[in-house]
Amino acid sequence: MRKIRIFNGPNLNLLGRREPEHYGRLTIEQINASLAEMAQAAGFEADCRQTNHEGVLLDWIHTLTQEDFLIINPGAWTHTSYALRDAIAGVSVPALEVHLSNIHAREEFRSRSLIAPVCRGQISGLGADSYVLAMEYAIRWLKSQEVAK
Ligand code: DQA
Repeated sequence: MRKIRIFNGPNLNLLGRREPEHYGRLTIEQINASLAEMAQAAGFEADCRQTNHEGVLLDWIHTLTQEDFLIINPGAWTHTSYALRDAIAGVSVPALEVHLSNIHAREEFRSRSLIAPVCRGQISGLGADSYVLAMEYAIRWLKSQEVAK
């Protein structure tokens, strides 16, 4: 079965209690539950993960195959990690970058994403809906691939 992988980077395990004015009050478990439900209803499987270790995220990305669609919130690695950018480019799977907060409306360092150029697009600033809309796109894209086969 084709899998929609939702990978979250550092500090996103703190959602719910972390700076709610930027990131809202939903926990990562609550967000993941809605995403899993959406994927399942569409006949796909959601694989939701979070890590605070950059090498772990890189290893996860290296396991992706053409069967996968990647939704990624790289957290602060968005702005710092050439290694993450190279990993996503290296596996050439369709990817969408998501952020809860609007990274273009905050501190200047957040407005630069090293990851965006290797993703199909970026959804930023819609809170948990950033993930929901990314999931909608992933489902639509995977279904369009099935029709094309
Ligand atoms: C974030 C934005 C990043 O700048 C920040 O470092 C995060 C969360 C977001 O979802 O809004 O950890 O990726």
